[in-house]
Amino acid sequence: MMINKRLIGTVKESKKYIAGNVICQWISLAANITMMAGIAFLLQSLYDGSMESQHAIFIAVITAATVIIRFFCTTSASRMSYLSSKAVKKRLRKMIYQKLLRLGNAYKEQVNTSEVVQVAVEGVEQLETYFGSYLPQFFYAMLAPLTLFVVLSTIDLPCAIVLLVCVPLIPVTIVMVQRWAKKLLAKYWGQYTALGDTFLEDLQGLTTAKIYQADEYKHQEMNQESEHFRKITMKVLTMQLNSITIMDLIAYGGAAIGVILATTRFRSGNVDLAGCLMIILLAADFFLPMRMLGSFFHIAMNGMAASDKIFRLLDLPETDRKTGIVPKDHTIQISDLRFCYGSDKEILRGIQMTIPKGSFTAIVGESGCGKSTIASILMGRNKGYSGSLTVGGTPLSELSEESLMENFTYVSHQSYLFKGTVREALLMACPDADDDALWRVLEKVSLADLLRNEIGLDTQLNESASDLSGGQRQRLALARALLHDSPVYIFDEATSNIDVESENDIMAQIHALAKHKTVILISHRLANVVDADNIYVMDSGHVAEYGDHQRLLAIGGLYAQLWYAQQELENYAKAGDTR
Ligand SMILES: Nc1ncnc2c1ncn2[C@@H]1O[C@H](COP(=O)(O)OP(=O)(O)O)[C@@H](O)[C@H]1O
Ligand SMILES: [Mg+2]
Repeated sequence: MMINKRLIGTVKESKKYIAGNVICQWISLAANITMMAGIAFLLQSLYDGSMESQHAIFIAVITAATVIIRFFCTTSASRMSYLSSKAVKKRLRKMIYQKLLRLGNAYKEQVNTSEVVQVAVEGVEQLETYFGSYLPQFFYAMLAPLTLFVVLSTIDLPCAIVLLVCVPLIPVTIVMVQRWAKKLLAKYWGQYTALGDTFLEDLQGLTTAKIYQADEYKHQEMNQESEHFRKITMKVLTMQLNSITIMDLIAYGGAAIGVILATTRFRSGNVDLAGCLMIILLAADFFLPMRMLGSFFHIAMNGMAASDKIFRLLDLPETDRKTGIVPKDHTIQISDLRFCYGSDKEILRGIQMTIPKGSFTAIVGESGCGKSTIASILMGRNKGYSGSLTVGGTPLSELSEESLMENFTYVSHQSYLFKGTVREALLMACPDADDDALWRVLEKVSLADLLRNEIGLDTQLNESASDLSGGQRQRLALARALLHDSPVYIFDEATSNIDVESENDIMAQIHALAKHKTVILISHRLANVVDADNIYVMDSGHVAEYGDHQRLLAIGGLYAQLWYAQQELENYAKAGDTR
């Protein structure tokens, strides 16, 4: 019922700790029985007046010895619990971590971040108690009543049978409670992840929420989610408390029946005083282990729910570890490329492109036509496309992430810069570059002067480099990209929303780069792509036309239309400036 074979198989080393724990508890029980026998015997001889001093000393020694044994057993049992918890935690966290590594870049397509965090932290913690406390108790709770039955049956069989028969009433109630507890707990976990999701999302989108003045609404949404969570938590707690009360009734009720039975049997002369005392002293021990198990019951439930989640994560299909290497001739061939994010709308609807090695290729088109989607596919971020995409004849899907990252450098309009020094930001791209090399690229992107006015390469950048202007940030991102020195560069709107001077500087560098590298330039501003060898003009998910600037103007299609419209706008702006 509440023993998950797969889970135990996963953490094999925990088996010996669980066995050790059960054995310790069992020895402790045996010691307890011996002690009780000693006490019963002592009381009997006091009652009979047959007490001898040797007996008393003997019993005192035995009692002292059993106390020491029990102390030792209890400490080793908790040590075993600890060791098995530790093994479980270490093993499962490692498995989850390695699974995430194997899932790689694309893990977000299959699970969301907050769920992974909860599973790895909270979920594993739940299982720690499952292995450390619940599982040993599960076995001990069966072993203890059987042992006591064997011992007490030598004193009085009917009593022993009645006590033994009462014990299963506890698991029976557990099973009954389990029926609806299972549903409740699934709901609890669902609500818990939902809350985590909303929380993480709200944090990540806080700025956006503020900008659109939606923070009040988000606040209320968050409150509602929390209220749901509070309610369901209360329900779970009530369920646990109620089930504990029921189990207590059965456990102590059963012990009481044992006591009553023992005294009647004594009065009718079926058992002697020592036997009667033994039964009275040990009756409760029949039920206590099972009662303990019952109180660990919610741990087991949580453990089961958590392990389902963990296995769901561990079972996610992996794209096999790819070993392909980007070939020297890395000409990119795209044919009938189709892609959609959800299941609904096709975003790329049969793209056809050839990007020869060493060429300067531009992709233009109105916002939302799918340009960035193509770039993401090329960088291995969007999987699950159909059609064919080869790099030097090797399908992109067979290339290892490592080789792809080594050969393709991607610069978007909001490249992420980590907190740290300028040197650290740059060394990320090329760990063994010396300071001279760093200054050379900074010179290229015209950041050198600015940094010399600060403290050079040791200048600190704060979170997301927010102390730099947008233009400076993009210059630094470009410097980092240049330092990476890969054969293929993809610039996705790398100059949008920055000052004109930065845009011109960056574009000049991109044009210089295009002379000896393969450069794919995505831009909505056509003035930037005039010099490209080939321009693909996209229109809602397909290539509408392609060719160089002159040819596209001559065709007089979408490109020409966009070109003249933009020219007009820019002339108008210039006229405005000079006025
Ligand atoms: N992560 C995403 N999930 C769902 N839809 C997306 C996602 N990214 C982009 N889209 C949609 O795909 C379409 C193409 O987007 P994109 O490739 O970013 O266009 P472009 O870069 O040409 O502006 C848009 O309609 C956009 O809403
Ligand atoms: Mg885009």
